[in-house]
Amino acid sequence: MEGALRPAPEITVVIPCYNERPNVAPMASRLAAALDGIAWEAVFVDDDSPDGTAEAVRAIAARDARIRCVRRIGRRGLASAVIEGVLSSSSPFAAVIDGDLQHDETRLPIMLARLREDGADLVVASRFAEGGDAAGLASRSRHTLSAVAIRAAQIMLGTKLTDPMSGFFAVRRELFEAATPRLTGQGFKILLDLLLSSSARLRVEEIGAPFHARREGESKLSLLVMLQFAALLFDKATGGLVPLRFVSFTLVGLFGLGVHLTVLAIADAVGVSFGVAQSAATLVAMAANFELNNRITYRDQRLRGGRLWRGRLLFFAVCGVGAVANVGIARALYYGMHTGWTPSGAAGAIIGGVWNYVMSATLVWGRPARWGRKRASGGGARACS
Ligand code: GDD
Ligand code: MN
Repeated sequence: MEGALRPAPEITVVIPCYNERPNVAPMASRLAAALDGIAWEAVFVDDDSPDGTAEAVRAIAARDARIRCVRRIGRRGLASAVIEGVLSSSSPFAAVIDGDLQHDETRLPIMLARLREDGADLVVASRFAEGGDAAGLASRSRHTLSAVAIRAAQIMLGTKLTDPMSGFFAVRRELFEAATPRLTGQGFKILLDLLLSSSARLRVEEIGAPFHARREGESKLSLLVMLQFAALLFDKATGGLVPLRFVSFTLVGLFGLGVHLTVLAIADAVGVSFGVAQSAATLVAMAANFELNNRITYRDQRLRGGRLWRGRLLFFAVCGVGAVANVGIARALYYGMHTGWTPSGAAGAIIGGVWNYVMSATLVWGRPARWGRKRASGGGARACS
């Protein structure tokens, strides 16, 4: 039987894709040319793109066993797509490359050689190292943004890496796998996440590589992705102690407070009574908070269709109970224990806010809230049962 065994290829190339249909076939043939003579496979991780990216991959995979497709449904995100692609592999080495032909795949054999022969743990294709260039960044503002983000990351990492934001790198798969439980998996910056999340000191090398302009399709970088980047730095700076979702939830809550006060001011100007105005403001703020949390905080598991109304109503119910708890606790502290005005109010608001977060995470968006450092196995404890 021994002869029938076919071990995993030496390198798995993971390609995150969203609406990249026209780029799939060129990508596959470029990889085949670049990796000629090497045992390789490629995993396209598609988030159920409406343009039929997955079908395009499968059409090739049906003829070429080196190509695989991982299709994720109901989830979005470059970083988490990359993680799942790497986890689907058993090769000693994994590489990550964009699916839009912006990266130069002919560098892959050099990157592999650095891992295999030079003993590097991670090889980053840098736009800013010698031999690289960032000509493909779409605009002047993208250049500036990129420079600022790189500076921030360098400070946090205490590193001299010239391109910690690169989307093109190769790594020992076991190291990636070991770091996986600590990755935030949010946003675009999987490499940075990996660098910040690896416990062992990694031997990192850089090689220069050009970043071409995109020819087909469009970039998915958005304001939201930038917010996720800021959140990633925050998460790592605080040692993962405060969940990113909680930060996002809190910011949305603060915005909701602004909405509330605006509605109150308008109602006052129109001459509505305070009681009515306060109720209206509360409803509008809750509705706004739900929309924003659904789009931002829980973007990756956004409720749609029929589940949207159910979620909205549950959210109102959860926040309603949160408000009652808030007032009740504050009153108990103030009248019962003679705690001061401000600390009583703050304690009520904080407990109410945490309640809203924990309960809506479980009931509305259907996943238990996680607290503290992420552990290697199992999710966080269910906050309520
Ligand atoms: N599965 C999946 N899900 N793939 C995604 C998603 C997603 O939600 N969002 C983007 N992608 C895929 C794109 O289809 C593309 O193949 C790749 O990830 C990069 O996305 P782009 O939208 O083209 O990003 P960019 O060109 O603005 O930025 C890229 O290059 C930078 C410089 O190296 C990214 O790789 C950045 O991380 C990188 O810093
Ligand atoms: Mn791109």
